[in-house]
Amino acid sequence: MIGKIYGTGSYVPQRVLDNDDLSKIVDTSDEWIRERTGIGKRHIAGDETTSFMAGEAALKAVEQSGIDPEQIELILVATSSSEVIFPCAACEVQKKVGAVHAVGYDLNSACTGFVLAFNTAQAYISAGIYRTVLVVGAESMSNMLDWTDRSTCILFGDGAGAVLLCAEEGTPAVMAAHSDGKKGAALTCLSRHSKEWEKSDKDSYIHMNGQEVFKFAVRKVPEIIKEVLAQTELTLDQIDYFILHQANRRIIEAVAKRLKTDISRFPMNLEEYANTSAATVPILLDEMNRKGELERGQKLMLSGFGAGLTWAACLFEW
Ligand code: ACO
Repeated sequence: MIGKIYGTGSYVPQRVLDNDDLSKIVDTSDEWIRERTGIGKRHIAGDETTSFMAGEAALKAVEQSGIDPEQIELILVATSSSEVIFPCAACEVQKKVGAVHAVGYDLNSACTGFVLAFNTAQAYISAGIYRTVLVVGAESMSNMLDWTDRSTCILFGDGAGAVLLCAEEGTPAVMAAHSDGKKGAALTCLSRHSKEWEKSDKDSYIHMNGQEVFKFAVRKVPEIIKEVLAQTELTLDQIDYFILHQANRRIIEAVAKRLKTDISRFPMNLEEYANTSAATVPILLDEMNRKGELERGQKLMLSGFGAGLTWAACLFEW
């Protein structure tokens, strides 16, 4: 069995902060940000919470699928930036979409979260445990940023994306995932509830060793894509799209180069949204789907990477 995507949805806040706006807040420029990252703007939440955005994206995915929400059996929300610890965002989504028979829980693996949640959903479906699963990635990264730190505040945005998966006969999705906890210090953000936070307010914001994260991503993403392909009889040429976590254009270009694969098969939308962590992959999937860029039978490779450090990939048929 495979989980086929029957519907996609996304939500981004209306408020937009472009690079020129940011240059009035910190010492930076549109030219620097575009050249180093490819980012042009980001959407920043006002009153919207993480679970609100998750629910809006989920509603659109359910609506497009035509599936009765009461059929949904599992809701997974990937997030590391929920304003509330509990109830979890997945239960808020359940309430909003009316998925009264579902069980919901959140999954935190930062920027890798959506791909890990997608893998989890596919594993449940191929094992025959669940047939109808809603998978959401939602983040309010703006709450976690030190808006005086130009090395991090330029990189992130807020938003949510969702997919509704339904079981069908077919080749199961193929996946791989890894963590390296020893490298966790490269990308951290303490909870405001931790004792450490009382000692240093700054630690409750994102801290990142940008160059270490860059090198990690460029090395590990091609490796895991090859690891997934090695479980199949497919070659790189037979993959229609590589839908990567949208952290940085230079990372994606470097991955394409290492795989000797044309960059046109690596869609990007980070110019518009920046890095929305666990939401980047489902927002991009939703955009491609709604623009009619995806056709049944195409082979898609998802890959996420981020704090932990963690990285994951999934190959499946659209
Ligand atoms: N505007 C202007 N100058 C800046 C800015 C800014 N926003 N930020 C840093 N600089 C300066 C630095 O102070 C430094 O100045 P110096 O040479 O006088 O010391 C100079 O620019 C170069 O800084 P570096 O950190 O070496 O710049 P680098 O080329 O590595 O680019 C970046 C930084 C964009 C963060 C890069 O390391 C990167 O993309 N890393 C990947 C990390 C990433 O994408 N993380 C996203 C979150 S994690 C994830 O999603 C997986």
